[in-house]
Amino acid sequence: MKALVLSGGKGTRLRPFSYSMPKQLIPIANKPVLEHILGNLRAVGVEETAIIVGDWGPEIRALLGDGSRYGMRITYLPQDEPRGLAHCVTLARDFLGDDDFVMYLGDNMLPQGVSHIAEEFRERRPAAQVVVHKVPDPRAFGVAEVDADGRVTHLVEKPQRPVSDLALIGVYFFTPAIHDAVAAIRPSARGELEITDAIALLVAQGEEVKASEYDGYWRDTGRVEDVLECNRELLDTLVPRVAGEVDAASELVGQVVVEPGARVVRSRIHGPVVVGAGTVVEDSWVGPHTAIGRDCVLSDARLDYSIALDGATVRHVHGIHGSLIGRAAVVRCDDTGPGRHRLVVGDHTTVEVAA
Ligand code: DAU
Repeated sequence: MKALVLSGGKGTRLRPFSYSMPKQLIPIANKPVLEHILGNLRAVGVEETAIIVGDWGPEIRALLGDGSRYGMRITYLPQDEPRGLAHCVTLARDFLGDDDFVMYLGDNMLPQGVSHIAEEFRERRPAAQVVVHKVPDPRAFGVAEVDADGRVTHLVEKPQRPVSDLALIGVYFFTPAIHDAVAAIRPSARGELEITDAIALLVAQGEEVKASEYDGYWRDTGRVEDVLECNRELLDTLVPRVAGEVDAASELVGQVVVEPGARVVRSRIHGPVVVGAGTVVEDSWVGPHTAIGRDCVLSDARLDYSIALDGATVRHVHGIHGSLIGRAAVVRCDDTGPGRHRLVVGDHTTVEVAA
């Protein structure tokens, strides 16, 4: 089975991060979302993957290369504009040939993997097999109505009045039957070729379309809140490991990873926490569910439930919580005068200070 990973799009809900990096490369537990996805695909036995890329193609290619590090071959397929999920299938037509394939949205995290669902698909080979998950408010998703035998009877993209609570969650298995359906649909009201419409057409034509419920943890990492939440979930399964240096005046509590070349000095780290390679943590407290990237500096800092990307600095600032600090960003407390804050804040950035 081949794989098609969709990693184009604009990522507007993740601004300002998406101004300088693709949302699919945001690190969760210090590993980019796309690397988590490639791990899941390898577990399913995929050896050939095409990745749809938009403007951030060069950055994605620089990280993932030819795929050999992940035990697969990777082909990159450029998309000029986000014209829809089904448009991505048309771009990959030659790559896919007449093979079955799994289509995986590049911002969806399913840490428990989809191996058992891939097995079901391989055994039965329905025209399409979608992965669904119960959500409290499905209006932001494709929504499926499924009968007692797991057959999809109805499918709508982002309905105002959902017919069920089963959301499509970004992993789809297809036989080549999908190609004719994709060729037959027209752009939706939002101007995109919707894969949901192509699958609905298969249903209308009487083809077998199955739904498998994924009951593990799932997140679409399209918003900062989701990134932090997903980071917490993954850090909860962290296996402690100290490859860097921790001085005698420091204390590590619970599951803590200190990567090679990192230094922890006169600090207390309360896991689950990961401290990236080359990072220095001094005179600081780092609380649960925090991931610090590579080559960061935390000095007299107190933070928890946060992510700091590579090269970030935090100095003399306490009480950081629920925060995402960008690459090489600096957060520091200086003597700017009583009651004053000096901010150099980029477009679409949110800064929340204490009242
Ligand atoms: O997250 C699950 C939902 O994903 C499903 O429930 C919906 O049925 C499905 O349409 C999709 O909805 P979104 O509106 O959340 O899709 P988004 O625009 O975020 O795109 C998903 C991924 O696909 C993302 O990594 C960007 C990439 N993409 C998207 C489009 C529209 C492309 O590579 N090219 C595109 O043209």
